[in-house]
Amino acid sequence: MCLLHILSTGSILISMISMVDETQNEQPVPNVMHPSILKVIEQRKAIKEKLSNIKHKIGVYSAKGGVGKTTVSVNLAYTLKSLGYKVGLLDADVDCPNITMFLGINEMFSDEYPLKPVDKDGVKVLSTAMFVDDARKPIIWRGPMIGKMIREFFENTEWGDLDYLIIDLSPGTSDSPLSIIQLLDLDGFILVTTPQHIASINTIRSGMMAKRLGVALLGVVETMSDGSKRGANEVAEAMNCEVIGTVGFSRKFNELSDKGVVPVNQDDEIKEEFLRISKKITG
Ligand SMILES: Nc1ncnc2c1ncn2[C@@H]1O[C@H](COP(=O)(O)OP(=O)(O)OP(=O)(O)O)[C@@H](O)[C@H]1O
Ligand SMILES: [Mg+2]
Repeated sequence: MCLLHILSTGSILISMISMVDETQNEQPVPNVMHPSILKVIEQRKAIKEKLSNIKHKIGVYSAKGGVGKTTVSVNLAYTLKSLGYKVGLLDADVDCPNITMFLGINEMFSDEYPLKPVDKDGVKVLSTAMFVDDARKPIIWRGPMIGKMIREFFENTEWGDLDYLIIDLSPGTSDSPLSIIQLLDLDGFILVTTPQHIASINTIRSGMMAKRLGVALLGVVETMSDGSKRGANEVAEAMNCEVIGTVGFSRKFNELSDKGVVPVNQDDEIKEEFLRISKKITG
């Protein structure tokens, strides 16, 4: 009962934050608000201003691990880049970052501050992996530290002008996704699932979280698909959103990604699949 109360109070606080933010031009913030809420509202406002040169911010999300969020993020980013857009790619999986491995990036951050994303073949990339000298080292951080790192990605990073910032989220429905929702004015989430029922159920969880906190759902992508679309259809039906793509199971994803090569840059069939998804997004 007590836990339920805390959980629902937390959601209400976040809903209030987004509600106040949306109406900030019309009505003043009531002065009865708790200082911690006011602080988040201020942070959100400052970040919105700081990122005003980024036209679209899109999260790639599922509460289920291993369904292909990073694969979709990376391949979508490079497909959008090939269509002529200016693209950034943020690894918001703060404690288990993978994007640098998918891209073969070995650069570490110098002491340079504010942070500058690494330009990898025309896409601006940022990840906590760039702070760690060995990919095998665990990043053992509690929630507040993860939230602080995510704020750095927006408050103290020079992203420059972008058409799209693609954000690869971590699994789960807690710290990292919650910070992204709390701080960013997102265009919406692309949900990712596999054909498996257990993946769809957990992806529906993330969709419900997004809806409850006022984030739009841009559609669902099924990865490692057998062509049946049963996972994507299950999510689409539950969340009342569109299936925007299926990516067939192919060993090339494992082989190329493990070598740090982006599949859409190497394989025409894979590129076709991601072009279809990109057109749904840009359209
Ligand atoms: N269509 C596909 N065919 C075959 N393998 C795939 C496909 N899509 C993704 N994979 C593989 O599945 C594994 C998990 O993918 P990925 O890391 O993108 O998932 P994730 O959801 O980001 O995982 P995590 O929750 O750990 O961040 C990777 O080894 C990736 O190469
Ligand atoms: Mg990932």
